[in-house]
Amino acid sequence: VLEGTCPFGGNTIGGAYTSKPTLSDWYPDRLRVEQLHRDGPAANPLRDFDYEAAFTAIDLDELKAEIKQFLTTSVDWWPSDYGNYGPQMIRMAWHAAGTYRIADGRGGAGQALQRFAPINSWWDNGNTDKSRRLIWPIKKKYGSSLSWADLMILTGNCALEIMGFPTTGFGGGRRDSWEADDATYWGAEWIENSNPESFDAMVMRSDRWTGEPGDADYELQQPLAASHQALIYVNPEGPNENGNPGDSAVDIRITFGRMAMNDMETVALIAGGHAFGKSHGKVAADKIGAPPEIAPMEAMGLGWKNPEGPGFAEYTMTNGIEGAWTPNPTQWDNSYLENLFGFEWEKFHNPITGATQWKPIDPTAPKTPDAHIEGQMNDLMMMTSDIALKVDPVYRDICEQFLADFDLFTREFSKAWYKLTHRDMGPKSRYLGPEVAAEDFIWQDPLPSYDGPRLADAEVSTLKQAILAAGVSVSDLAYTAFSAAVTYRDSDKRGGANGGRLALAPQKDWKVNARTGEVISALKQVQATSAAQVSLADLIVLGGCVAVEQAAQAAGVTVAVPFTSGRVDATDEQTDVAQFEWLAPVVDGFRNFVLPEFSSISRVAPEEMFMDKAALLGLSAPQWVALTGGLRVLGCNHDGSSTGIFTDRVGVLSTDFFETVTSMDYEWAKVDDEGLSFAINDRATGSKVYDASRNDLLFGSNQQLRAVAEVYAGSDGQERFVHDFVEVWDAIMMADRYDVKKG
Ligand code: HEM
Repeated sequence: VLEGTCPFGGNTIGGAYTSKPTLSDWYPDRLRVEQLHRDGPAANPLRDFDYEAAFTAIDLDELKAEIKQFLTTSVDWWPSDYGNYGPQMIRMAWHAAGTYRIADGRGGAGQALQRFAPINSWWDNGNTDKSRRLIWPIKKKYGSSLSWADLMILTGNCALEIMGFPTTGFGGGRRDSWEADDATYWGAEWIENSNPESFDAMVMRSDRWTGEPGDADYELQQPLAASHQALIYVNPEGPNENGNPGDSAVDIRITFGRMAMNDMETVALIAGGHAFGKSHGKVAADKIGAPPEIAPMEAMGLGWKNPEGPGFAEYTMTNGIEGAWTPNPTQWDNSYLENLFGFEWEKFHNPITGATQWKPIDPTAPKTPDAHIEGQMNDLMMMTSDIALKVDPVYRDICEQFLADFDLFTREFSKAWYKLTHRDMGPKSRYLGPEVAAEDFIWQDPLPSYDGPRLADAEVSTLKQAILAAGVSVSDLAYTAFSAAVTYRDSDKRGGANGGRLALAPQKDWKVNARTGEVISALKQVQATSAAQVSLADLIVLGGCVAVEQAAQAAGVTVAVPFTSGRVDATDEQTDVAQFEWLAPVVDGFRNFVLPEFSSISRVAPEEMFMDKAALLGLSAPQWVALTGGLRVLGCNHDGSSTGIFTDRVGVLSTDFFETVTSMDYEWAKVDDEGLSFAINDRATGSKVYDASRNDLLFGSNQQLRAVAEVYAGSDGQERFVHDFVEVWDAIMMADRYDVKKG
């Protein structure tokens, strides 16, 4: 007790660092720029670790043999169903990968985010905490050489293999995240889940949908891919738990489509996955304890405590639906489809949990052995989402093909599983280990292989001269190089300048790229007349280097912008137009681009989308500021307009942008009701000096970004700015160069 304070309460502690309320509780609409620095090196205990070297040193055969041995060795604290952990591990791997969504490339298995909230506590991930804990001894043995993310997918593969399924391959190389992702948009209505009674509320739909299934305008909000909050894809009981298989099929098509799966892949995955294992619904949901993130401390990271019996084995409660799909749940065979189509199914409510599920009407339908009680045989089970495959005409047709040709089904499921589990890894050059499939798949955005020499310094100099002589402005060269590189997203490692896809459909036709067509033609001329072999992709980037060097020189700073040749040009055949269309920007603040329809389709402000893109590029706040300020003075607006170009020396890498946004010589006024456009007026004369967008004023209005802008606007800022700009420019140009960088 401190001297002078009341011993009975004067020293009550009301809060500690991070106790609520914190900044975002007071100002919920603030732009959380600090999120750009989440999961950074400071959070990573392995930041200096060479994962590639460590993983490739593992004897993969030996590791797989150990995993397979474990899968059929039951432990007492969570005994396996049917004496085989395989099915629950397939589900763990599928749920790890299945959060992926193509709209922003976020989610997926790549970082083992299933370990952290909110994903670790989603109702749909019930008992995956046990699956991960079960494989901890293997993780422990291999330590840092085997990431959780790789182990989870590899265990899924091993599980499939011991049950007779031929997998297509396995590529390692996933790097774990080290903290919860507090910024990904998973949709509204998360969560009042400290109260287990609200489990139902968690799986209800939110305003993420417009319309109802069957309506022409039925649509799921972007960038979401799951139909309900806290689920991976769709509710097994149908939309809003309505038990309607037709409606369920509509949701499945939309949500699996957002996962970049077509109808064939979707059917293969669902029918293939549910050839294994069972669903668990032996205890009412309201008796189940809190999920891992908010479970009591003594639960030590586990959640969903089940009070019935020992809380596992024949008492297991996960989803609420009870039963197995096939008579042989640990064997790869075609009995899922044979029984789905061989019998009529009737809907009923699970008597314990109330969940909607289906059983065969025909009493002669095969039974399935109980997972734990010796000698007990149970009815087969289907979910509403399984019956959906039978009622939707297109899914039905595919099922019939699979029924008639089990090898086709096996091949399609094997390929779709490989895609599911590797979709978010980016270029194949990131895959590690001896089991990487030799075949190139179109979803990998393949590139032609190149093992020729790098350009010699003299050749680079000659090419630079040729580019300068081609009569293209600094502004256009920089714009084109940036436009090639900016498609990169660190989430699923897609996009980027390599491949030269800026010159191919669909990118060449995007409105935002209209300025690049003529530049590309000029660069193709340079390529055609060059003595050295050079790809268009390299020339586009080199054009950017030339432009930045010229602009820096004009600002009085001499710099050499790094250039690493070796890029290749992809072909139309190597480019899946529909899958690339997802990379088209809705908002790109760097190029002052906002899709005209944006304000009517979005509930978020342009600057939030701008920051979303900055995050996808992997930028820090200082990098974001330097890059934008530089692009503005380089004149890199998509339409060549003067909005945000706060300089009368376009093409000079000056600090004029920062000086303007920090200057009190101006006042700033909205020019439309929505507050999308602004005028910057001279405070003394009242006359307009510049036009601006939200994506310009952001750098003076947001306190964190302004603080960085002040550094560059300071009297000692010019040189620092040029160096910082060159550094971030190079980082963007090299973002996709997994052929030369690690990670
Ligand atoms: C289990 C739903 C797609 C593999 C389950 C369970 C549900 C479910 C509710 C029971 C969980 C439990 O109580 O333990 C769905 C829905 C899907 C879908 C609605 C999409 C329409 C898939 C896919 C795969 C898969 C694509 C893998 C390729 C499995 C496996 C199990 C399972 C192996 C058994 C787990 C065990 O035995 O512990 N699924 N699933 N599912 N699912 Fe799915």
